[in-house]
Amino acid sequence: MAKRKGLVIAIDGPAGSGKSTISKLVAKELGLLYLDTGAMYRALTLKAMRENINLEDENALVELARKTKIELTMNEKRDEIKVFLDKQEVTYDIRTPEVTANIRYIAKVPGVRECMVKVQREIGEKDGAVLEGRDTTTVVFPDADYKFYLDADLKERAKRRFDEMTAMGMKASLEEVEKDAERRDISDKTRKVGALKKAKDAICIDTTRLTINETAEKVLREIRK
Ligand code: DC
Repeated sequence: MAKRKGLVIAIDGPAGSGKSTISKLVAKELGLLYLDTGAMYRALTLKAMRENINLEDENALVELARKTKIELTMNEKRDEIKVFLDKQEVTYDIRTPEVTANIRYIAKVPGVRECMVKVQREIGEKDGAVLEGRDTTTVVFPDADYKFYLDADLKERAKRRFDEMTAMGMKASLEEVEKDAERRDISDKTRKVGALKKAKDAICIDTTRLTINETAEKVLREIRK
């Protein structure tokens, strides 16, 4: 394979493991593009919902994925991404509980995943990137320069998600968020394609008792070794 222009760093892990925050920090520190692959699945889910597509109709979902343009850009401070669906900004609309609950229908369709993975590879190959998701270390870039798997206890992950939702002004109960995280773990880990699993050679970090800075430091130390 031709040598890539920039570093490709892939970071996988379950919801709430800290991978988004860490990936953004690492990308900023290394001057790389940050690619939130989950945001792409979220954006397509939102479009399917808005267009009243039957979420069980795999052919319709693949067709939708093929004709949809999803773009991610960083804001000026390079600490948040903006998400565009066919040129319209949907940064906040993709984070609602309704979208989160429906992603599993979209994420399990092989044809949809092929479309997403193709775009993700093109972006990473171009100038390098920090990619974060469920399958970036196993499917998108199994040959990434660095691969990490972040994890944390379910209770801690649910608490982080709850705090995040409350900060965004969303109403939620901690118990419901924990149940939802558990359901999402099962769906993420048991999907036939693109399932969340540890790549054999990924560096595993348990973030349950680590601060964001401590985790980012660990990741950066591995890269700078
Ligand atoms: O990272 P997140 O919570 O925003 O991801 C939302 C969902 O998208 C997640 O439950 C599973 C799916 N996803 C996926 O199937 N593959 C990826 N690479 C990233 C996310």
